[in-house]
Amino acid sequence: MAWSVDLSGRRALVTGGASGIGHAIALGLLEAGARVTATARTKASLEACAAETPHGPLDLRRLDVTNPISIDGLMEELDGLDILVNNAGEVRGGLEFQPDQFADVINVNLMGVQRMSHACLPKLALAKGCILNIASMWSYFGAPHAPAYTASKTGVVGLTRSLAHAWAEHGIRVNAIAPGWIETKLSRPAREDPERNRAIGARIPLGRWGVPSDVAGAAVFLCSPAAAYVTGATLAVDGGYTAA
Ligand code: NAI
Repeated sequence: MAWSVDLSGRRALVTGGASGIGHAIALGLLEAGARVTATARTKASLEACAAETPHGPLDLRRLDVTNPISIDGLMEELDGLDILVNNAGEVRGGLEFQPDQFADVINVNLMGVQRMSHACLPKLALAKGCILNIASMWSYFGAPHAPAYTASKTGVVGLTRSLAHAWAEHGIRVNAIAPGWIETKLSRPAREDPERNRAIGARIPLGRWGVPSDVAGAAVFLCSPAAAYVTGATLAVDGGYTAA
């Protein structure tokens, strides 16, 4: 895909950027010319991530968005920041009905976004930068099998609006993308259930599951000067799923 946006000189951080949607976004930002740090929670995920690309190396780091010490360590290592992509997330399915599991998912998917946004605020304010949060189509529907995931992703849309309003005074834009069904590790259980997979496919107007690179184009746009007047928005990238 050819990018017409130029992010050279910009510094980006993508949480969960070593796999799936985050990795595609990291590569899109890299291709647009940004210097990109992509993070993973585990050493194994970092090692599994191909660091070298035709557009230069990704800077790969460990980060746990639930751990303030891990976040502080990363903040000390970054010399500046223009773009924060809060992509890290998890789903625990039916286990989420148990209050402790519910809290853990909220802690990663919603608290993690706020922790990272707050930690990056001084650097982003200095750069008049932007934040992109990864929400979900489950921000709008109730997933019967994943109550914490739904609650967290609904929260991400509200948090996006609130931070956009609050931090406009620092020149920081805050937007979100709500991906639909994208082929990644996280969505594998639904894809591997033939009945569910068929029902999902039948409901997507564009007639196919998305792939991580489908999200990257919208992400690069929202992080670029082309979106200079866009803040507080959540863009669905779902093949029309939420429109149907
Ligand atoms: P994935 O499993 O490949 O990526 C999730 C990433 O989050 C991993 O890289 C993992 O290391 C990271 N992560 C998890 N817990 C973390 C923690 N405590 N600290 C730091 N990083 C942590 O799955 P995928 O699908 O690429 O997910 C990326 C985002 O997209 C998530 O926020 C997910 O909720 C969202 N999403 C995915 C959809 C899909 O159909 N795949 C649909 C809608 C939203």
